[in-house]
Amino acid sequence: GAPVEVDISKLEPGQLIRVEWRGKPVWVIYRTPKMLEQMKQHEDQLRDPNSNEAQQLDSAKNSYRSKREEIFVAVGICTHLGCSPTFMNGGFGEKVEGTADGFFCPCHGSKFDMAGRVFQNVPAPLNLEVPPYTFLDDTTILVG
Ligand code: FES
Repeated sequence: GAPVEVDISKLEPGQLIRVEWRGKPVWVIYRTPKMLEQMKQHEDQLRDPNSNEAQQLDSAKNSYRSKREEIFVAVGICTHLGCSPTFMNGGFGEKVEGTADGFFCPCHGSKFDMAGRVFQNVPAPLNLEVPPYTFLDDTTILVG
């Protein structure tokens, strides 16, 4: 599949845009300072906080799992059986204790944080995949 260009010039903090790459949904999310802060606070509840087992770019092997702290790029497919998780911007509500933002898979209840890292005690075995991507300039990402 051809690489896909994503214009993020209109993306606002807290927003997600979805593009298609190789037939897969890819998310680009502009994380707020609050989301970045939340990610540090629940690392003990994650299955693989350092993403040792996840599929990701070498350049995204950091606690944000991204090239730029605020911009998160991930394949929007649950690592359990392939459903597409829902963006819970504003918290998981009653679905998860605590108020962190993240992603909830409606199929069997897997939960991921704002870096796509899976929480413990859910069926998904791995963190969400981070696809290959590069920044062509400040507001353009090339996925693939
Ligand atoms: Fe997401 Fe099963 S497919 S929890």
